[in-house]
Amino acid sequence: MRQILSFLFLAAACTSMLQACSDREVDPNLGPYASSDTTNGGGTTPIAPSNYDEQYRPQVHYTPKRNWINDPNGLVYANGTYHLFYQYNPQGNGWGNMSWGHATSSDLLHWTEQSVTLTRDALGDIFSGSAVVDKDNTAGFGKNAIVAIYTSAGSAQQQSIAYSTDGGNSFAKYDGNPVIASTSADFRDPKVFWYEAGSKWVMELATGNNHSIELWSSPDLKNWTKMSEFTSSTDRCNKGQWECPDLFPLDYKGNEKWVQLVSTNPGGPVSGSGTMYFIGSFDGTRFIADQDFDYPLWLDYGSDNYAGVTWNNTSGRRTYIGWMNNWNYAGSVPATPWRSAFTLPRDLKLIEYQGKPLLASTMVSETETLSGEWREATDGMLRNTDACQLQVTMPTTQNWTLTLQNAQNDQYAITYDAPSRRIIADRGTRTGASSFAANFAIPSVNMPINTEGNEVTLDLYIDRSSVELLTSTGSAAMTNVVYPKAVYHRLSTTVTPSLVRVRDLKRVWP
Ligand code: FRU
Repeated sequence: MRQILSFLFLAAACTSMLQACSDREVDPNLGPYASSDTTNGGGTTPIAPSNYDEQYRPQVHYTPKRNWINDPNGLVYANGTYHLFYQYNPQGNGWGNMSWGHATSSDLLHWTEQSVTLTRDALGDIFSGSAVVDKDNTAGFGKNAIVAIYTSAGSAQQQSIAYSTDGGNSFAKYDGNPVIASTSADFRDPKVFWYEAGSKWVMELATGNNHSIELWSSPDLKNWTKMSEFTSSTDRCNKGQWECPDLFPLDYKGNEKWVQLVSTNPGGPVSGSGTMYFIGSFDGTRFIADQDFDYPLWLDYGSDNYAGVTWNNTSGRRTYIGWMNNWNYAGSVPATPWRSAFTLPRDLKLIEYQGKPLLASTMVSETETLSGEWREATDGMLRNTDACQLQVTMPTTQNWTLTLQNAQNDQYAITYDAPSRRIIADRGTRTGASSFAANFAIPSVNMPINTEGNEVTLDLYIDRSSVELLTSTGSAAMTNVVYPKAVYHRLSTTVTPSLVRVRDLKRVWP
């Protein structure tokens, strides 16, 4: 039966299915953050309003109407609203003029773009950071003020704050900025959270090329004291700059464990950017990583999930979003008039694998509200006209390949290697446009499935310019951007799935 069904899958594609970094570019005038494409960065070219329907425009992922974005910033939930601030260039779709753009949502999926929130001042550009709700008015800006904590990036990187007393609509910069003065050129991305057990604010800061995370504390968000520094003795963790830290507790079998996220660039799991995590304990002063892991562990094994952090103030829920790009080629990806999207939001939890905790990501349950009815796709026709979720159950005991395609013969092939229990995605020249950057085409992006048993169920979230592949338990994730001429809408397989079904994901734009 398997063989017969298998034959029904696009036979023609079967033969081809088995076919299977550089550092961030540096402009000496702009420092380490120069985009490789400055054609529109800082320019004044007028850009037509968007109907969110351009070629490659994601239909279920957040993008700004126009212009460049990178890291998510200031993730905070307040009064029923999720705030998503982000690194934004108000003047073009190359990196530059770093400001905080802003979008709001009640469900993490339908976002409304708001006006630009924070723009550069005498202390410098507005780099990455976080936001908190000051419930107890510790800072004196008012009860429940939303306080943003960000890096002022001028000749040095220093930490500053701004506050909102109108629910996040507008922010005033604190006149005592910077709250942490520094002469360092590598000292950024403050992630602040309220540490209840110690009744204090804790801030994490990344030291870039010094490969460490500093932990500071404060009673009032204004006066800060350094508590400790976290480093890794594993050389493989120190290949690139450390950026965008996040530290949070998660339950593991009834006990509390702390997870430390560190974005690193280069040195990621593929090449260029990636997000490591460490599991350990936090005593209010110091994060200590458990040593029984083979670090680095990766939050996502794909090429395009960077600088991700989690929302503050979500009462127990730990929801994450990342920048769906890679500094290797971020400035060159063929998206216009916007450039870059965020991942779908994911809930993080610790699950057990081989007797140890493993950080698992699953798409937030709100994604269900975008989803249409499941339909069988045993003939290989997904029948999606735009974004969709494909679910397949495959054996783990034999090799196979699944190939996504469109009518123009762009292909995204996912091969499973049974001996190593790894999935290898071909994000190469056949996926669609790929020649815009020399290091974009990568024939083998690979990940362990991190799960036992004779079968594995995979969920693929396919949009116009990305494929997010997750095991159904969240034990492994692989996020890659792709630029096919049209969304993939066919599937061929070398081994018949025991389950293959698809459902549309409804466009999130008005
Ligand atoms: C990470 C990062 C941060 C910095 C921001 C600048 O992608 O380099 O460290 O704050 O981008 O845009």
